[in-house]
Amino acid sequence: MLTRIAVLVSGGGTNLQALIDARARGDLPHGELVLVVSSKEGVYALERAEKAGIPTAVVSRKALGGDQEAFESALTALLEEYGVELIILAGFLSILSGAFTRRYENRILNIHPALIPSFCGKGMYGLKVHEAALACGVKVTGATVHYVNEVPDGGQILLQKAVEVLPGDTPETLQRRVMEQAEWLLLPRAAEQEARRIFEEKEHHHD
Ligand code: GRF
Repeated sequence: MLTRIAVLVSGGGTNLQALIDARARGDLPHGELVLVVSSKEGVYALERAEKAGIPTAVVSRKALGGDQEAFESALTALLEEYGVELIILAGFLSILSGAFTRRYENRILNIHPALIPSFCGKGMYGLKVHEAALACGVKVTGATVHYVNEVPDGGQILLQKAVEVLPGDTPETLQRRVMEQAEWLLLPRAAEQEARRIFEEKEHHHD
């Protein structure tokens, strides 16, 4: 049985789209995208999932009165209901507690739009990451896929890809290049690597 993957989103969903396109191209043979969960209503990532025929759900901490435990128990119930074996954070902006990440140790991937340990950690997401890179005057940045643990952007690094910073880059032009040349390549590659690892682990258990 293919590895059952849930993708957690909060915004535009371009990384989700990269996973959907990879699956359609046959580049995710060991995984199946079974669920997309958004932390917010009405984000375009949900439309991308619906167009791809993937079941969707919204679990909003705000709607749950800001209660982290209620948020995580609702999320966990959904993941269990769908038999999810691998969780991919793709532009997901909600914090996950140590209790949650330990439950899914080495089963949660995140894509960060910089070369960790640069420009990462609490509050470093979206355009802020690229603003910091430009403010530093780095000539090279990139993206990182890593396991998620209780430290923001702290888990074991799985894949990285470097991207040039060009003269005249704005945070927007740099973000676009990092997405096109790094994020949208690395995330599907990491998803297939991990889906295959989990698939083969399950195979050995049956032997
Ligand atoms: C982007 O900043 C991306 O670098 C990071 O999350 C943000 C939104 O991504 N991973 P997406 O378009 O919602 O996938």
